[in-house]
Amino acid sequence: MLPQLFAVTAPGFEALVALELREAGFAEVRVVPGGVECRGSPLRANRQSRIATRFLQRLGTFEARTFEALKQGIAALDRAPFGPGTPTVEVSCQRSRLFHTDAIAERVVEAWRGGEGSGPTVYIRFDQDRCTVSIDTTGEPLFRRGWRLETGPAPLRENLASGLLAFAGWRPGEALYDPMCGSGTFVIEAALWASGREAGSGRNFACETFVGPEAAVRSSSVATVFGASDRSRAVIEAARRNAQRAEVEITFAVADASRARPPAPHGLLICNPPYEHRAPGARHAFENLVKLLDGPFASWRALILCPVPGWGLALLPRVESRLCFLNGGLRIEALRLREVDSNPPP
Ligand SMILES: C[S@@+](CC[C@H](N)C(=O)[O-])C[C@H]1O[C@@H](n2cnc3c(N)ncnc32)[C@H](O)[C@@H]1O
Repeated sequence: MLPQLFAVTAPGFEALVALELREAGFAEVRVVPGGVECRGSPLRANRQSRIATRFLQRLGTFEARTFEALKQGIAALDRAPFGPGTPTVEVSCQRSRLFHTDAIAERVVEAWRGGEGSGPTVYIRFDQDRCTVSIDTTGEPLFRRGWRLETGPAPLRENLASGLLAFAGWRPGEALYDPMCGSGTFVIEAALWASGREAGSGRNFACETFVGPEAAVRSSSVATVFGASDRSRAVIEAARRNAQRAEVEITFAVADASRARPPAPHGLLICNPPYEHRAPGARHAFENLVKLLDGPFASWRALILCPVPGWGLALLPRVESRLCFLNGGLRIEALRLREVDSNPPP
């Protein structure tokens, strides 16, 4: 039987993770509260998912109303594949008789009977006296791909950037432009996707200590036009270095958004404009973006992050769908916009 996995996702991105897991051939994919369940190889899941935050492997579930029942439940699980060593234990509890998280963690460590050294990270979740035991297969969260060592203001996590590209319906081959690109997250994630490399190709995962090696999968690369600009020279230099680390080629330019021009007749304009909505500059930057969409980029589709609901009013006639999510504690609405004019002048 294939291992049962649970993909931890950012709220709002569950359906997109489910779709990418189905497309990658994982079995029994199902959206559940807080994430997505599926069956398949944990190493392949970690390497291939562009949108998930972490994958846990389910070990078992049992009822436990007392510490004794908890210890017996843990002792009955097949822990051998996860190696010796004392586990690190993360506990969450709701609606259960056992609720003292430190005391639960202590009992799990005792029952695990780990040897010397550190063992796996074990997640214990109590809900209505049922205890679910899972092993972390990821380690450092999946958005730490390894290439983004430098950021500008309010960077978007790499997996959220990929989730938003998927929400926009972007696929390698469609031209992409970000006129306020900051550290380059959208275009670099997209260029990695177009290169045919797996999302996690540059890093290791916790499950490599307990699963056998598997060959990396590489699909064919798809030629795609990428462009990105930002008015800050410092962030463009950081974005160029990030792209070098990711081994992707992107044309970055220092320019105010009002001077951005489309590098192809059609494509997707994607943008995460400044959020500080009390600062006059952020409102002005958003208005510049609206002008771009009505002007030089009128024949392009768009995915715009809107930090203040009222700011997107002028775009309403073009909104095809929206996705709400939290970024840095702020509620952000991603607006997917159709093009205004599908026949640009030659
Ligand atoms: C929220 S950040 C973008 C973060 C980016 N998505 C990332 O993940 O790193 C907004 C960016 O917009 C840029 N910006 C603000 N006003 C601008 C304008 N008028 N023209 C071009 N860039 C602008 C800022 O320099 C900043 O890098």
